[in-house]
Amino acid sequence: MNNNVPYKLYHGDCLEIMAQLPDSSIDALVTDPPFTMAGGLSNGRSSSVDSQFFSFWWTAICKELNRIMKPESEGFIWCDWRTAAVIADGFKPKTQTYDTLAVTQMIHHYRKMIGQGKPFRNSVDMIAYVRGSKSTGERIPNTTPNFIEKYWYYGKHENHPAEKDVEICAQLLEWCSDEGAVVLDPFMGSGAVGKACASMGRGFIGIERDTDFFPIAEKGVTEAYTVKSVKLAKALPPTSPSLFTMNAT
Ligand SMILES: C[S@@+](CC[C@H](N)C(=O)[O-])C[C@H]1O[C@@H](n2cnc3c(N)ncnc32)[C@H](O)[C@@H]1O
Repeated sequence: MNNNVPYKLYHGDCLEIMAQLPDSSIDALVTDPPFTMAGGLSNGRSSSVDSQFFSFWWTAICKELNRIMKPESEGFIWCDWRTAAVIADGFKPKTQTYDTLAVTQMIHHYRKMIGQGKPFRNSVDMIAYVRGSKSTGERIPNTTPNFIEKYWYYGKHENHPAEKDVEICAQLLEWCSDEGAVVLDPFMGSGAVGKACASMGRGFIGIERDTDFFPIAEKGVTEAYTVKSVKLAKALPPTSPSLFTMNAT
């Protein structure tokens, strides 16, 4: 790994990797967790765990995110109508405090879903907007509607069955981070968020546990950070460089 470039990719379970990241070290979150496992279909296959398990597991993820995200941080988390409430509830503390991340809004991504001969094709993805207790939300113009309309056809992707659109990732990055920010994606898949980070001059920490997808992400994100046309991140905030040289495994 070239430590001169501001990205670091981990092959492993994100709960274990995040446990090794320092407190208040991450500026922004853009991620796409495996929410379809909480009910419904994923690429035509039934989900493999029940929603209670998903909720329990997601709450543990949120606890780590609360610790490692800066109070000023903001971010976006993909979900759907089944999981939107669980995704938001995972951040709710058990005791009253104003010092946690909170989901404050849902964006709807309208996408074309054609074919497969079924009625009521699910044509809306949701993207939760999560904010730290000291975030300002100032990067988002106050005329911005809570929907994105862009073609995205589930199941027709080159690198991952749930591969996200790099341009949408870039838009989300613009809304939640500045150049040089350290952005985390604990569910990196094929690395769409990492590629967007490279093109937007953000630093990136990506985690993926799947042995097939990790090399795909590693190749794609590395290429994105090394092509000459890509704008590389400016100097990182003083507390951040160690994030890219530490050896969490
Ligand atoms: C919805 S996909 C993300 C797809 C990604 N946005 C893309 O554009 O390719 C979720 C990913 O999370 C990974 N994953 C699931 N549980 C994980 C865990 N505990 N730690 C790290 N990665 C995990 C899955 O292997 C899967 O690739």
